Amino acid sequence: MICLGVETSCDETALALVSGGRLLGERIASQEDLHALFGGVVPELASREHLRKASALYEALLQDTGIPSQAVDVVAVARGPGLLGSLLVGLNLAKGLAMGFGAALVGVNHLHAHLMAAGLEREIPFPALGLLISGGHTHLYRMESPASFELLGRTLDDAAGEALDKAAKLVNRPYPGGKCIDVLGKGHAPDTGLFPKPYTANKNLDFSFSGLKTSVAKYVSARPGLRLPVMPQGEVAAGPDLGLFCASINFAVAETLRIKTQRALEAQSGLRALVVAGGVAANSMVRAKMARLAASFGLECIIPRPVLCTDNGAMVAYLGERLALGGYSHGLDLEAVPRGQVVPHDYIRTAFRTDECGHPA
Ligand code: KG4
Ligand code: ZN
Repeated sequence: MICLGVETSCDETALALVSGGRLLGERIASQEDLHALFGGVVPELASREHLRKASALYEALLQDTGIPSQAVDVVAVARGPGLLGSLLVGLNLAKGLAMGFGAALVGVNHLHAHLMAAGLEREIPFPALGLLISGGHTHLYRMESPASFELLGRTLDDAAGEALDKAAKLVNRPYPGGKCIDVLGKGHAPDTGLFPKPYTANKNLDFSFSGLKTSVAKYVSARPGLRLPVMPQGEVAAGPDLGLFCASINFAVAETLRIKTQRALEAQSGLRALVVAGGVAANSMVRAKMARLAASFGLECIIPRPVLCTDNGAMVAYLGERLALGGYSHGLDLEAVPRGQVVPHDYIRTAFRTDECGHPA
């Protein structure tokens, strides 16, 4: 089976081909530079850029891999949650391609795709606890199979990545702020009491990062020297004050995630692994803390390499192929689901029969 994955839910236009769980090729156009100056993604600009880039990326991907359109059996598309205008560009491309070459269509939950991305590198043992940490979401799941995720906890306001992006914006550093804060904080010891570990003094598995933003804003306004007058184009090394600031924010976010993830691990039984994914899973402190946490529970810690943590098409193609092999698909009436709404489990169930090599029978 050959599955094409289409990802346009935020600021990356990405298309990939996967077969038998293996990546055949991928093309990504990042919009980082376009949004950098705004301190976050501008939805209107993002959807226009997807529209401008998507078809050319598709042509280039076929050329790279030498795979003809007619060989594609399944078109998988990230159908949400994400920016509505951006999702619609991907959805329409996917529907057109599926209709054009008679392939099956499967809409993929973008958050589940993040957590399944590691499957491209190694097998994910189920059941697993999944921590999804991105720019728009902070979710804890019990993962039973590629098609069955139970939501255990979520952010009540800002996501972990959003908190980092806003902190970077306060000191006039470019989007994606999380990456910037990670780089600038490296080699500096955090002050572990400088910023709060928000919403941890309770017994639940939800998150709330808005308090961290307030505390960071107060800290910066008392130290105006931290803020650059003009946003830098390239990377600028951090002095001791900025290094301490960035390392301490990294610590507050990573430690908050550790506390809630540990609570979930204590509450769940029969787990075989901890899976961490999403853009913030590229963070060096988060990776180190999660590896230690999983080891203390005797669990495998599965975190994809950083390039598979941020948005990509490979994760969509990978989960799409797994779902299609399990007999899950959608009709051409598949709808996009904007951020803040629940992605429905509205698959059409069919037996997608394959031979022993995974080719459609
Ligand atoms: O998963 P993703 O690429 O897009 C969404 O679906 O949101 O995540 C983007 C988020 C941004 O908030 C960005 O600042 C953050 O991931 N990010 C990082 C790092 N790289 C990207 N946060 C912390 N450390 C990093 N190295
Ligand atoms: Zn994402």
